[in-house]
Amino acid sequence: MDYANILVEVQGRVGLIRLNRPKALNALNDDLMNELGQALLNFDADDAIGCIVLTGSEKAFAAGADITLMANYSYMDAYKGDYITRNWETIRRIRKPVIAAVAGYALGGGCELAMMCDFIIAADNAKFGQPEIKLGIIPGAGGTQRLPRAVSKAKAMDLCLTARMMDAAEAERAGLVSRIVAADKLLDEAMDAATVIAGMSLPIVMMVKESVNRAYETTLSEGVQFERRQFHATFATEDQKEGMRAFLEKRPPNFTHK
Ligand code: HXC
Repeated sequence: MDYANILVEVQGRVGLIRLNRPKALNALNDDLMNELGQALLNFDADDAIGCIVLTGSEKAFAAGADITLMANYSYMDAYKGDYITRNWETIRRIRKPVIAAVAGYALGGGCELAMMCDFIIAADNAKFGQPEIKLGIIPGAGGTQRLPRAVSKAKAMDLCLTARMMDAAEAERAGLVSRIVAADKLLDEAMDAATVIAGMSLPIVMMVKESVNRAYETTLSEGVQFERRQFHATFATEDQKEGMRAFLEKRPPNFTHK
């Protein structure tokens, strides 16, 4: 499938999506978000794919929603038309893991998009921020909600109120990113992590994702109960039999993703 604003490729069992509007630092417009949603849905439906990597360029993961478009929006465009965020939710429906590989700027909607992924691997030149306040708006795709959950209320308030950027080291200390690597190794590191995940049993991978995400949506006792039921369900898979048999036979498992 041909896209105008993203590049899509497959390496082994990993689907790779690159945001590709270099002249606007990958600013996120309607067309790009539609294409991204479609590419994610296609990979999610493809049995040959076990994990997805989302990345940008060396200079920018994404510098936010497209300001040239938003500049002229009225309240009715934003509210009734929902022009800005109407197609931002697709990524939340994706059941396979999505890794954000972030180099350069991840600002505003770019930071929010990275946070919608399952985890973030950052290049050492990555910069995260929610600078919307400088434009006279507030974050609109989860920035005020996911950032405090990821980095604490204090740091989220600091970033959203002052519009300052946080570098990769600060983001890792605060818990926003899972690892930092040299910029020229970013994609290799993300693809390697995705390849490891894609080699696991796909239904088990999906259960892990669903269970960890539950931790953010519910109480501890309900989350633990949910995890227990998923744990029990793993014994209904062929891959549980294979994983345990392989351990006992001292060989690597050969998962069938069933
Ligand atoms: C549209 C953008 C853009 C954006 C950069 N560009 N960010 N265009 N929307 N968000 C364009 C610039 O206009 C410029 O185009 C080109 O990309 C290169 O940008 P420069 O500013 O020349 O680059 P540089 O000096 O290196 O500065 C990089 C930057 C700066 C620090 C990232 O571009 C910047 O501050 N951008 C805006 C960041 C921001 O405020 N993001 C939040 C947006 S609001 P030309 O044609 O001049 O070369 C948002 C709300 C989300 O995201 C709501 C939920 C959906």
